[in-house]
Amino acid sequence: MNTVLFVIAAYLIGSISFAVVASRLFGLSDPRTYGSGNPGATNVLRSGNKKAAIATLIGDAAKGWFAVWLAIRYGEQFGVDDTGIALVALAVFIGHLWPVFFRFVGGKGVATALGVLIGLNVWLGLATLATWLIVAYAFRYSSLAALIASVFAPFYYGLLFGADEILFAVAAMSALLLYRHSKNISNLLAGKESRIGSKSAAAK
Ligand code: G3P
Repeated sequence: MNTVLFVIAAYLIGSISFAVVASRLFGLSDPRTYGSGNPGATNVLRSGNKKAAIATLIGDAAKGWFAVWLAIRYGEQFGVDDTGIALVALAVFIGHLWPVFFRFVGGKGVATALGVLIGLNVWLGLATLATWLIVAYAFRYSSLAALIASVFAPFYYGLLFGADEILFAVAAMSALLLYRHSKNISNLLAGKESRIGSKSAAAK
């Protein structure tokens, strides 16, 4: 029962869209109305406001980290085991993708996944972040960097900890992230994907 409460709390935390919150705070248009239409840091950057994009990135990553940290730090005394932690990790991510506060229309999960991975293990998060940075630096596509980093993340987890329930959650998160990037994948294949820093975006 306690695990269910942690999972529900994680889902609600994940449902807070920092792209929408930061845009309102900075007086910008709703990110769902321009660019790719995605409520995420990459699209907020297309508004031209770097501070709002960084705030979005930090907020969305922090909520992923916080939900997992909460479950690891306080879960044990309430009987939350590794399966519970895996469910919490997935729940906060799913909250970001299908948020209850925004009619279940959420983002693609990149920053939140990073926060979850850092919450699970700092080295896991840093290895995945380094992968994102290398690909982003080399190719200037935020989506491609996210796609490749998310493919690597379960391998990094497996190398560090072996196969367990949390590996399943990390792999499921990666699979959902790939699924949410299907439009980006077709844009990349068609050579239509916009590069980091470009104010326009390919078709939604
Ligand atoms: O963080 C999401 C990114 O991978 C793609 O965003 O707005 O270009 O679809 P966007």
